[in-house]
Amino acid sequence: MDNSFILECSNLTKIYRIFPGKKIYALKDFSINVPGGVVFSIIGPNGSGKTTLFKILMGFITRFSGQFILRGSVNGRNISVREKIGFLPENPSIYPDLNAYESLKFYGSFFKESRISSKENIERLMELVGLTEHRNKKVKEYSKGMIQRLSIAQAIINNPELLILDELTSGLDPFVTEEINAIIIKLKKEGKTIILSSHLLGHIQDISDTIGILFMGRLLKVGTLKDITQVSDRGIIIFDTKGKPLHECREVISSCGIEIFNVDYLTNDLEEAFKDIVKKEKEK
Ligand SMILES: Nc1ncnc2c1ncn2[C@@H]1O[C@H](COP(=O)(O)OP(=O)(O)OP(=O)(O)O)[C@@H](O)[C@H]1O
Ligand SMILES: [Mg+2]
Repeated sequence: MDNSFILECSNLTKIYRIFPGKKIYALKDFSINVPGGVVFSIIGPNGSGKTTLFKILMGFITRFSGQFILRGSVNGRNISVREKIGFLPENPSIYPDLNAYESLKFYGSFFKESRISSKENIERLMELVGLTEHRNKKVKEYSKGMIQRLSIAQAIINNPELLILDELTSGLDPFVTEEINAIIIKLKKEGKTIILSSHLLGHIQDISDTIGILFMGRLLKVGTLKDITQVSDRGIIIFDTKGKPLHECREVISSCGIEIFNVDYLTNDLEEAFKDIVKKEKEK
């Protein structure tokens, strides 16, 4: 095992048999290494296998093939490894008659460390996700976005080293999405690793170090935003005409069948331009 990776997946495969003779690959030969301290995002259409992957990593799906090593534990068998993982499920379970404070107190009570369910920690989390003013409202009276914020607070309650966030932005308006982005960036700066899915690609683009595209259970492409978005058979060349008139260069390039979008002169900074003009004047 390479210790620099917080997660290593090799050939993870999950098949669902929906009726005799028909099987669905919810995940097929999924292999990836995720280093610590990055934001790794999985994007994919509905039904592409994102939730299946997260459920395997969290130990909710136990029948699968392939292997993963999560924080040093093979297939997550070492339960204590999960003490430092935070999970945001796709459809968070809520207790409708509890308010935000009581809910977080309850989630915090699952952990051994008493600090996690302390008043101080819970107040801090409610402030972080913007729920302080709704603290006395019962969760059944919450909007979808408010439930999502509560669920995000639940996911980070134990100050996890690794966060797995399924549909992070589900139900969030653009303002809250921006606040959540700031939280993710802050957590990353603290050295945490974040693995997430979201259908808001603009948001993914802003926060991810690495992006994986999943389709019908298969990882089609993985890389940085630049790796994913660059168009390999189209490019921009900037060249120096070395004093040759632009119209002449334009004719040469056009004759090769290359389309010219824009022709512009190089600009110097003011100091260089000034010196150049004065120098030419002196040489007259
Ligand atoms: N319990 C199940 N039984 C049978 N098929 C299932 C089951 N759970 C998931 N699937 C199938 O596995 C595939 C992957 O589903 P999954 O929920 O992982 O997708 P997803 O990428 O999370 O989609 P979404 O963006 O809609 O949340 C889908 O074809 C889905 O129908
Ligand atoms: Mg899903």
